[in-house]
Amino acid sequence: ILGVASVVVGIRTRRCARTYMADGGASVGVGRSRGVLIKDDWPGFPLQLFSFPKHYSEDLECVLIPHGIIMDRTERLARDIMGDLGNHDIVVLCVLKGGYQFCSDLVEIIKALSRTSERSLLVRVDFIRLRSYLNDQSTEDLHIVGPEDLSILSGKMPTGFLFSPSQGIVDTGKTMKALLKHVATFRPKMVKVAGLLVKRVPNGVRSLPDYVGFEVPNRFVVGYALDYNEYFRDLNHICVISDDGKRRYKL
Ligand code: HPA
Ligand code: MG
Repeated sequence: ILGVASVVVGIRTRRCARTYMADGGASVGVGRSRGVLIKDDWPGFPLQLFSFPKHYSEDLECVLIPHGIIMDRTERLARDIMGDLGNHDIVVLCVLKGGYQFCSDLVEIIKALSRTSERSLLVRVDFIRLRSYLNDQSTEDLHIVGPEDLSILSGKMPTGFLFSPSQGIVDTGKTMKALLKHVATFRPKMVKVAGLLVKRVPNGVRSLPDYVGFEVPNRFVVGYALDYNEYFRDLNHICVISDDGKRRYKL
């Protein structure tokens, strides 16, 4: 998820300072621009207190973000996006595979809000596929896999773009940058990026997505369509993978 080449003047909203819960040792905070802050000392929720696929019993350390909280945060992002769009229609470019769940839930909520609002928003959806991770490491090469033709992004009609990013996660920012460069060749009028997670990595992103769900510690997370070698997409919470899990599914 990237801090995209920003676009139409007046759309970018005021950035609020992050505030923290009052207990001093708080692990969770709030902010518009960087999303809900999950601090490094946040232990997560015990797995046993939630339901999850039994086949992953040994493979997860904790629930970092329960599914319900992801959904609540996504609803708020959808409202923020609707509020910023004015009269623009949008083309949503979903970044597969890790971004599919976030994209799908976000679009569902935007559609629902649009049905009941004065100003109905025309939403079109296209898909792009990226692959840059082997095991839990980012590989040098980023593969952008189809579609060849993203001219749905060019025409005159779509004046707004929302592009739901980097397989759901922005960490080094390399992926986002490469993707934006690719998207720019189709001459969209405006590009906005929505990312569910921004990870705090050393030398991490300088540019952030326009809409961020959560800012998370630098740990390998899975679930809600985020995978480890294609496993864990069938888990609906965002969890931290355990060492056992990494070993079991290593390629
Ligand atoms: N989980 C899954 N895929 C990823 C991650 C992660 O933490 N970081 C980059 N791609
Ligand atoms: Mg992946």
